[in-house]
Amino acid sequence: MSEHQDWFPIPETAARNTQCSAADYDLMYAQSISAPDAFWAEQAKRIDWFTPPTKIGNWSFDPVSIKWYEDGVLNLCHNAVDRHVAAGKGDAIAFIFEPDDPANDARRVSYSELLAEVKRMAGALKTLGVGKGDRVTIYMPMCVEGAVAMLACARIGAVHSVVFGGFSPEAIAGRIQDCGSRFVVCADTALRGGKSVPLKANIDAALTKVDGVDAVLVVQHTSEPVAMQAGRDHWYHDFGASDDCPCEPMNAEDPLFILYTSGSTGSPKGVLHTVGGYSVWTASTFHYVFDYRPGEVFFCSADIGWVTGHSYVVYGPLQNGGTSLIFEGIPSYPDSGRFWDIIDRHQVNIFYTAPTALRALMRDGDAPVLARSRKSLRLLGTVGEPINPEAWRWYHATVGEGKLPIVDTWWQTETGGVMITTLPGAHGMKPGSAGRPFFGIQPQLVDNEGVVLADEHIGGATSGNLCITHSWPGQARTVYGDHNRFVQTYFSTYKGKYFTGDGCRRDEDGYYWITGRVDDVINVSGHRMGTAEVESALVLHDKVAEAAVVGFPHDIKGQGIYCYVTLNVGEEPSDELHAELRQQVRVEIGPIASPDHIHFTTALPKTRSGKIMRRILRKIAENDFGALGDTSTLADPNVVDALIEGRQNR
Ligand code: WT7
Repeated sequence: MSEHQDWFPIPETAARNTQCSAADYDLMYAQSISAPDAFWAEQAKRIDWFTPPTKIGNWSFDPVSIKWYEDGVLNLCHNAVDRHVAAGKGDAIAFIFEPDDPANDARRVSYSELLAEVKRMAGALKTLGVGKGDRVTIYMPMCVEGAVAMLACARIGAVHSVVFGGFSPEAIAGRIQDCGSRFVVCADTALRGGKSVPLKANIDAALTKVDGVDAVLVVQHTSEPVAMQAGRDHWYHDFGASDDCPCEPMNAEDPLFILYTSGSTGSPKGVLHTVGGYSVWTASTFHYVFDYRPGEVFFCSADIGWVTGHSYVVYGPLQNGGTSLIFEGIPSYPDSGRFWDIIDRHQVNIFYTAPTALRALMRDGDAPVLARSRKSLRLLGTVGEPINPEAWRWYHATVGEGKLPIVDTWWQTETGGVMITTLPGAHGMKPGSAGRPFFGIQPQLVDNEGVVLADEHIGGATSGNLCITHSWPGQARTVYGDHNRFVQTYFSTYKGKYFTGDGCRRDEDGYYWITGRVDDVINVSGHRMGTAEVESALVLHDKVAEAAVVGFPHDIKGQGIYCYVTLNVGEEPSDELHAELRQQVRVEIGPIASPDHIHFTTALPKTRSGKIMRRILRKIAENDFGALGDTSTLADPNVVDALIEGRQNR
């Protein structure tokens, strides 16, 4: 078996010095499945409760209703910040901020300093009128105040909706509108790779498209000048320290945050997480998956605009009293040794990044890595997309000098935290496989008709569509404002099961190999994108009749964006139109959705009933048109030859 040739045993140091051995995992996994309530009641003791829960899991996937710890009362900010200070650990470092420009000073923020800052932000929000349950849109750079804004919301019971700084004003407006957010926190501008990102100006533009925002709290981050609208916009630094913002007692099932994510249809969905289950899930996954020990420096390179940033830059590390490194910049600036510089400079022990970043860095060879010591590193991790074995080997051999465990963590915005991974002291590694289910996770593979393929959660080699049969505390509870969409999207394809949207293979050792999305979602540089969203952006152009968007394999990005476009009668393709369409997508969504290829065509391959045959479009975009499969159901088979002739990805 090929995967056996690719077997890397648990590194000796990880096996000797672990908080969860192979035997521990086997025992705990078995307990988590046979007695989930007892298991999750025990894990809930990792955090403080104002009222400890007596009810643990209370859920059903048909009809869909998910509750965990429903009579417990707690506050995530208390668990992330206050309790460490109260326990005398106020001098421990919570955040290390590494600025975009390495010539500028890094900043270390202790737990006591963080507490004062969070109280100040919470006080400012309260003064502006934010109350429990209100939605607050956060549009911030990677900086301490971004995390502080999240924690301040959690403190006062407001629901944060962080919007990634790369999204356009149009996309921000849609997200503000969808959750009825009356408050925005942003910075003047952000710095990324030496370039300025006009965050405040983007908010100003967004607020011309959506009504209802009463107040914008602006953090001075770069001090670049920005326009301030009297009565609406307020400088954060005009607010002083605040001491009358205690942690609001929250019911475990009160909403904590909304995070928008793409699906196969329609506009992005506001995935909703609640306080209790998410807190326990991020606290326990962070502890076990990274085998974290007090005092270690943890560096997750994800932006707080994505769920990885929520769970493993902010809430997981802080609930564990850890030190989390916040990096403002990008891996290639000022050169492709930046990650390794940061690791040396701040003595990082655990480094967690995306395969796309590794592939980009790998292209620049080993020299930038070898020029840095990396001696502090103990553990490496990846997330966001399947890692190709070549990139895994480079990470392992060159970055980790063959000595460090790698955790390849499979999870989703909807899962709140890690679901499938190897645990560093418990499992050997197979490059390209995420590994084994985390405690309480029962994966099941089904065929397209929903027939279960090998009915065991461990064992039984097979491949199919990845479902999860039992709830876990970190699971999303609903889509904000549209529970029916939540039910339809995740629980109706295979009734009574949570469907992930991913294809997957399980091998004879019970290791899971994620093969990628089986729906119309693509993964571009670890960012999830609905092909339908890009199509909607393209057809907004008045010359466009129809658009069909597919992903294709891309060396660095994982997947690239390939757009087929038909024009209205009388319109002709041109370089200008090509540029306009690219721009249109950037305006509607943001630069992360920029098409790699735009292929003008006079027709799309359709069935006689008018359904676009995406399978064929994918093959042509992949430049793999030798095996197009059955084209007999096409209304006009000649369309295919023309598309092959005009293919853009040669
Ligand atoms: C989709 C979820 C998890 C936070 C970042 C992305 C893909 C994620 C892996 C992995 C293979 C992975 C899946 C999943 N994915 N991690 N380790 N191996 N695929 O969160 O934006 O919600 O995207 O990312 O396709 O469904 P997201």
